[in-house]
Amino acid sequence: MRRKLVVGNWKMHGDLKANKALLDALVAGLRSYRNADYAVCVPAPYLFQAQAILQGTGIAWGAQNMNQFEAGAFTGSIAPHMLMDFGCSYVIIGHSERREFCHESDHVVAAKFHTAIKVGMKPILCLGETREASEAGQAEEVVARQLDAVLSRFGAQELRRGVLAYEPIWAIGTGRGAAPERAQAMHEFIRKRVARLDETVAEELLILHGGSVRVTNAAQLLSMPDVDGALVGHSSLVAREFLAICQAAN
Ligand code: 13P
Repeated sequence: MRRKLVVGNWKMHGDLKANKALLDALVAGLRSYRNADYAVCVPAPYLFQAQAILQGTGIAWGAQNMNQFEAGAFTGSIAPHMLMDFGCSYVIIGHSERREFCHESDHVVAAKFHTAIKVGMKPILCLGETREASEAGQAEEVVARQLDAVLSRFGAQELRRGVLAYEPIWAIGTGRGAAPERAQAMHEFIRKRVARLDETVAEELLILHGGSVRVTNAAQLLSMPDVDGALVGHSSLVAREFLAICQAAN
């Protein structure tokens, strides 16, 4: 039985004061929710703050990106072990915004996924197609290519220590999430693709859903058999909304 996981992706939002209020509210609100797991992926400068507030609460924290190398001359980059120094359990890898705006290739994303596991974090590998690809009927093809970048290089066992997130780009930040049945179909496709290589890994693998997961659609999405949780952007910034989504998972 897979345990649901809800992760907030704060993206480039927040400041010390607002973060404190939000994190304090999550600590208070999630205290009684014990049937699922919860995490927030905060901007890197606030990892210290997240660690200070969340340590010992049962809520995990993580980062939104990292370099694929362990150290070196990469001005402005953050090495995996630096995230470990601040207690990160999770790191989001290959978010569509990084693939698009920072030109991260499938190859680089796969390398980051591998390095994160090597240092002991759980990478959350994001997969998802653009609106154009979706309208052209190429959604499965795109998602398969993104997934295979990890599978063909590192094998299915690699996924044992990671998490997947299917986030159709056409749903992100629009307020119009995928219909639950449509989300389920892609999640099932992803799980079956992993199962072709390793059925046990596929059965245990968490596949989160992202893209306008809101209070209004969370319960329905989370009731789908292959939707194992949510990766929440917008609604993770408002304690009341994030807590309601967590409650649906709980
Ligand atoms: P929204 O929930 O704002 O659509 O963002 C989803 C997302 O990109 C999470 O990683």
